[in-house]
Amino acid sequence: MNCLLLYSSRDGQTKKIITHIAENLHRAGQICDLRDLATAETIDLKSYDKVMIGASIRYGHFSSALKKFAIRHQQQLNKMPTAFFGVNLTARKPEKRTPETNVYVRKFLLNTPWQPDLCGVFAGALLYPRYRWFDRVMVKLIMKMTGGETDTTKEIEYTDWQQVDHFADDFLGMVSEK
Ligand SMILES: Cc1cc2nc3c(=O)[nH]c(=O)nc-3n(C[C@H](O)[C@H](O)[C@H](O)COP(=O)(O)O)c2cc1C
Repeated sequence: MNCLLLYSSRDGQTKKIITHIAENLHRAGQICDLRDLATAETIDLKSYDKVMIGASIRYGHFSSALKKFAIRHQQQLNKMPTAFFGVNLTARKPEKRTPETNVYVRKFLLNTPWQPDLCGVFAGALLYPRYRWFDRVMVKLIMKMTGGETDTTKEIEYTDWQQVDHFADDFLGMVSEK
């Protein structure tokens, strides 16, 4: 199987997650192309058997590149086995870590013409010391409002790697029925 894995990542956590998935798929004998979504706008999806896209949230939104890609490639995406996952800090709470309960993923799926066969939500990372001043203040405010970590000297990875492995296994098991 020839898989295309695309990511949209600002601080590297989504890239880290999809790289981990690519390693699992590679170990299982799949051929994987891992690309930044921003450089893949005109890619020919017909050369692949399956596609996975992972994207993170910043100030309530996925990147516009994700929305544009899904619109531009909707026909091809809806014809082949595809998976989508979103990464954000709201998902650090287990009850907000499913496509139905995570507001960002739920809204994306409602508003995009692309209907992925497999969807997931992963908790991201909180990397206060690496943020610019403004972002650090804003993220601290968001965390304060939602009962999260407010110590800005801390870096915390909330990603559940077992959940990521499970998602990779589900993707591995997907076969084309379209
Ligand atoms: C400036 C900024 C804004 C963010 N806004 C949100 C948000 O609105 N909701 C949320 O759940 N997470 C938010 N996050 C958390 C990110 O989604 C999380 O850190 C994720 O791991 C980022 O993934 P990436 O490194 O692949 O971009 C924000 C993070 C930053 C730095």
